[in-house]
Amino acid sequence: MATQTIAKLLAQGTTLQEISVKGWVRTFRANRFIALNDGSTINNLQCVVDFENFDEALLKRITTGAAIHVTGELVESQGKGQSVEIQVKALEILGDSDPETYPIQPKKHTFEFLRENAHLRTRTNTFSAVMRMCSSLSFAVHKYFNDNGFYNMHTPIITGSDAEGAGDMFRVTILDPKNPPLTEEGEVNYKEDFFGKEANLTVSGQLEAETYAMSLGKVYTFGPTFRAENSNTSRHLAEFWMIEPEVAFMDLDGNMDLAEDFLKSVLSYVLEHNREDLEFLDKRLQEHDKTLPQAERSPMHLIDKIKFVVDNNFKRVSYTEAIDILRNSKPNKKKKFNYIIEEWGADLQSEHERFLVEKHFKCPVILFDYPANIKAFYMRLNEDGKTVRAMDILFPGIGEMVGGSQREERLEVLKQKMAALNIPEEELWWYLDLRKYGTAVHSGFGLGFERLVMFATGMGNIRDVIPYPRTPQNAEF
Ligand code: 4AD
Ligand code: MG
Repeated sequence: MATQTIAKLLAQGTTLQEISVKGWVRTFRANRFIALNDGSTINNLQCVVDFENFDEALLKRITTGAAIHVTGELVESQGKGQSVEIQVKALEILGDSDPETYPIQPKKHTFEFLRENAHLRTRTNTFSAVMRMCSSLSFAVHKYFNDNGFYNMHTPIITGSDAEGAGDMFRVTILDPKNPPLTEEGEVNYKEDFFGKEANLTVSGQLEAETYAMSLGKVYTFGPTFRAENSNTSRHLAEFWMIEPEVAFMDLDGNMDLAEDFLKSVLSYVLEHNREDLEFLDKRLQEHDKTLPQAERSPMHLIDKIKFVVDNNFKRVSYTEAIDILRNSKPNKKKKFNYIIEEWGADLQSEHERFLVEKHFKCPVILFDYPANIKAFYMRLNEDGKTVRAMDILFPGIGEMVGGSQREERLEVLKQKMAALNIPEEELWWYLDLRKYGTAVHSGFGLGFERLVMFATGMGNIRDVIPYPRTPQNAEF
């Protein structure tokens, strides 16, 4: 008999004769009721065993965490809490669990504890719901771009250039750290390294995506990116996945439209397809909220918050306007910010971004036209000579969700910018070629996938929305 998923069985609802399911025991109550979960849904299947018909030795092995195979009849449930249950006819233990040492006991665990047991944490309701949401969002990303005529490309993970000019990169080398080959000047000789030059893990696929946009029109890359910045926050990972579309003949306004439409589309997708997981996560958050002081409680429940983003226009505000708002804000005047905004040109910290989104506008905000000197070299210079066509999308509870820009398409302006920042032309000759041969207005953005998952699940720490987080001092699993 073919095994069915619990999701399918519960969706069918009707009583079926013989069925077969495999899963892991969540609880075994009163020597009679097994709550079985197979990962296909947040819901457990109640399996009723008539203990008189089973060997005591077998019943003893039905413990939390064990993998079992159950066959029997799906019947209308006598009890509360489920519409159907399975009347067990045969039961096979596929894999025993040790109730003494199994870490995922049927009780509340802290997220910190579950992080240390990340290999088993998807056996809890919260983490299985989060990971199903991850999978759906990832699918929705590809679906959106595919439906809208974008080509998917895989940009390289090992690179010889530093796309963001940030300098926080992980080196890729096969040289012996104790005894590297040296140049005559006594420096490490990377000519003898694997690639014949210095190589790093990429911080962004943008520059390569630009090359394909300038021939294929609309492309996107969705892959792992790496940042060696030592920021131990709830929103930073050393390894995260970035979604980066890049479009020829599109200016910054088009870029804002695209990003907003994209975000609304993928969030609508999970509203429609992950209802049960969302309802579970929503309830979890409401309960968590009750433990917080009034001022820290979220003003909106999870599903309402997602709907709000889907149904309302994002507020578009220039950097200059934002600085005015911040300068005149209460926390700035009362010196409540850690960084007081004194003048135009200041880089915005997450406290400022969150003020704008959560206190002032109370909706997602697209900030644009930032000062040139706080943004990357490739952003298009405005006619004022001091701002660039950059945009950041800020989300409540998250801060920066998206960073993007219209790219500098004028060869001479780009060269000047690179010279000013000491970026050698030889390193990016191919990037400059795009400006020599058929250059055109083009734009794109980058969205951190895990930040999107944080928003959609209401999880407060980015370490809890990626299977195995990589952060400073941590690369377990
Ligand atoms: O703003 P960023 O640095 O932009 C770029 O890398 C551009 N090259 C993107 C482009 O235009 N194609 O990063 C983009 C997004 C951020 O808005 C944030 O969501 C996410 O990537 N991000 C991180 N997510 C998790 N951990 C980190 N350390 C992150 N750094 C950036
Ligand atoms: Mg950014």
